[in-house]
Amino acid sequence: MEPTAQSQRQSPDRKKIILDCDPGHDDAVALLLAHGNPDIELLAVTTVVGNQTLEKVTRNALAVGTIAGITGVPFAAGCGRPLVRSIETAPDIHGDSGMDGPELPPSAIELDPRHAVDLIIDTVMAHKPGTVTLVPTAGLTNIALAARKEPRIVERVKEVVLMGGGYHVGNWSAVAEFNIIIDPEAAHIVFNEKWPVVMVGLDLTHQALATPDVVAKIAAIGTKPAKFVTELMDFFAHTYKDAQGFDSPPVHDPCAVAYVIDPSIVSTRKVPVNIELQGTLTLGMTVADFRAPAPADCHTSVAVDLDHERFWNLVTEALVNIGEPDDGGRSEGEAGANNNAADVERQERADLSVGGVK
Ligand code: BDR
Ligand code: CA
Repeated sequence: MEPTAQSQRQSPDRKKIILDCDPGHDDAVALLLAHGNPDIELLAVTTVVGNQTLEKVTRNALAVGTIAGITGVPFAAGCGRPLVRSIETAPDIHGDSGMDGPELPPSAIELDPRHAVDLIIDTVMAHKPGTVTLVPTAGLTNIALAARKEPRIVERVKEVVLMGGGYHVGNWSAVAEFNIIIDPEAAHIVFNEKWPVVMVGLDLTHQALATPDVVAKIAAIGTKPAKFVTELMDFFAHTYKDAQGFDSPPVHDPCAVAYVIDPSIVSTRKVPVNIELQGTLTLGMTVADFRAPAPADCHTSVAVDLDHERFWNLVTEALVNIGEPDDGGRSEGEAGANNNAADVERQERADLSVGGVK
């Protein structure tokens, strides 16, 4: 696979991530943020059943990669069902395709032949210990299986920054969040391995609302990827209003990427978290123990407060950096973040015209 301008810019300071996702409207924004931010090195994109079937979410991931002009980053499909439970998808929120709203282009990206679990393992093992962050924004099936198949990844991974759970509210039951309840056994594995886990849950992501003001600023960028996001948000706004009564939709998944980019945007608190596997009313609950002090070996933390303005500025800046990928972004120097004079010029124009999200 040809490296892109983005992947060639191996600044040692860039944070290396693997995005494990189920696009998904908000997964799409997470992928665009990861690709367009100059402080992230996107090592791989893996997919897992969740918002829709594995086939659909994988097709969607490839479509987003095509729209963003991503090249040189492997995309691989993973698990098509949870470890123990039956498949549960979210058409009420994400539609029949898993990413209803915008028209999706045919993929210009060839799927990596490896299973996502193997791609995750290969990628972590190929990098120095403590340098790769896993960013799951879906059910945790792939991550759990990777930890079981190659236990050495647990001590090599820098941290797992996942979108899922919530310590005071659920969305798929009174107390459980979708990404956790669709595969609670996988979540149990991931939360109980001794790697650092940051749970970016509903407590935080319900603050990441795509208000009309935010969407207008994204629309003002005027590029096809930006238009794609506004079309996603339009659909998302309707389903979140109808299904969950939100006036503006919470855009969950990019919050995890934003935390990796700049942890000061998301405040966290160190508390033990475990997953309820038995309860008839509480299956999939992320039980957080806020009693102080946290035990010395506590390796989990939960996200608490979001800086809404800076979060959305990151998203708009990423879209500005992505610009207008030419011909699917395959022309040299167009894909990726802030890599050439055109990108710098675009950023300057955006600073003038977008003026930040207030
Ligand atoms: C999570 O569930 C999915 O529907 C979204 O993509 C997000 O990852 C929110 O509960
Ligand atoms: Ca998701």
